[in-house]
Amino acid sequence: MRRCILITGGAGFIGSHVVRLFVNKYPEYDIINLDKLTYAGNLANLKDIEDRPNYTFVKADIADFDTVYALMKERKVDGVIHLAAESHVDRSIKDPFTFARTNVIGTLSLLQAARLCWEEEPAAADAPRRLFYHISTDEVYGSLQMDSPLFKESNKYEPHSPYSASKASSDHFVRSFHDTYGLPTVVTNCSNNYGPYQFPEKLIPLFINNIRNRKPLPVYGKGQNVRDWLYVEDHARAIDVIFHKGRIGETYNIGGFNEWKNIDLIKVLIDTVDRQLGRPEGADRDLITFVTDRAGHDLRYAIDSTKLKEELGWEPSLQFEEGIEKTVKWYLDNQAWLDNVTSGDYQAYYDSMYKGR
Ligand code: NAD
Ligand code: DAU
Repeated sequence: MRRCILITGGAGFIGSHVVRLFVNKYPEYDIINLDKLTYAGNLANLKDIEDRPNYTFVKADIADFDTVYALMKERKVDGVIHLAAESHVDRSIKDPFTFARTNVIGTLSLLQAARLCWEEEPAAADAPRRLFYHISTDEVYGSLQMDSPLFKESNKYEPHSPYSASKASSDHFVRSFHDTYGLPTVVTNCSNNYGPYQFPEKLIPLFINNIRNRKPLPVYGKGQNVRDWLYVEDHARAIDVIFHKGRIGETYNIGGFNEWKNIDLIKVLIDTVDRQLGRPEGADRDLITFVTDRAGHDLRYAIDSTKLKEELGWEPSLQFEEGIEKTVKWYLDNQAWLDNVTSGDYQAYYDSMYKGR
């Protein structure tokens, strides 16, 4: 029997890379991409695979339990890779309710649908294992001091933003379904991703686009915050390995061992964009504009992914310099994609975010 895997949020940034990887690598699986197509979801991210016979797109809201349950039942879904979420911290500060609805209620709705479907139709003895794989973030662990050790899987949860609080809550629900109902689950907590198809409200694509258009670069606070950056295709590869070989009930951290202070990363970005556009290198450094800090801004995230390396052999494949070079080139080569997603509603939202900062 063919496997049928439901990937949620597959029209978003990371989800589109996961869908592409699974559709291309596993023609023997049926892949369903369920996505509500919020401002962050874009089917243009999947143009290259949309006609594949093993791929189906379903426009739906993960919080709509009846729809999710009916789909999983009808298609006999035997694996879920759950990425759909509201994912931007600044938006969560403005509108926390949407984050609770999608990230908490939406995750609960998927968990309940998987539990009921899998209890109602027990798997055949020779069937591949069923799995509910929940994609989470390092932000649930809170904020590190500059000299603190990296986040390990055993760190306690200390979320600070409404976004990370909603992701922490969803992680707890996933574990509760494993412990209470025996649902086969895995949770991973990943650091900051970068690469093609990221919505340009996040630091790297926003700044590449602003440098290209010679617009100010709004650096929060003094630019001293630290993030650990991972190329998105490396994250997708980790998800593939963990989906197939991760131990049920476990948590794995995924990270790049690649910490950067924002201001240093921004200078690298400016120099890279300028060079690729044939402008004098560093010419656009005067676009750096220090603005009011993000409320509750976490100082530092950094992930220890030793467990994943030791148990499953995964490690990042791309050096950061190469990843940034490729990423800048992709955004400069895909200006139509950028212009499309930054037009209309998004531009009005962006302007309102930065007014008065
Ligand atoms: P994204 O914002 O780019 O994409 C989210 C996708 O979810 C979009 O396609 C959107 O349409 C869809 N979606 C939103 N609400 C939905 C709903 N109610 N029903 C169905 N679909 C809905 O997000 P991303 O950056 O790709 O992140 C994907 C996942 O990975 C999230 O769970 C996020 O918390 C997690 N994560 C992201 C990062 C990162 O650096 N981007 C790092 C670690 C973990
Ligand atoms: O750590 C994983 C998380 O990484 C994911 O769970 C989130 O979904 C993802 O959005 C990301 O969260 P961050 O808040 O770290 O990402 P963001 O790109 O918004 O910001 C990165 C850093 O850059 C952060 O310190 C804030 C700063 N920043 C961001 C923007 C958008 C600025 O200084 N100026 C900006 O305009």
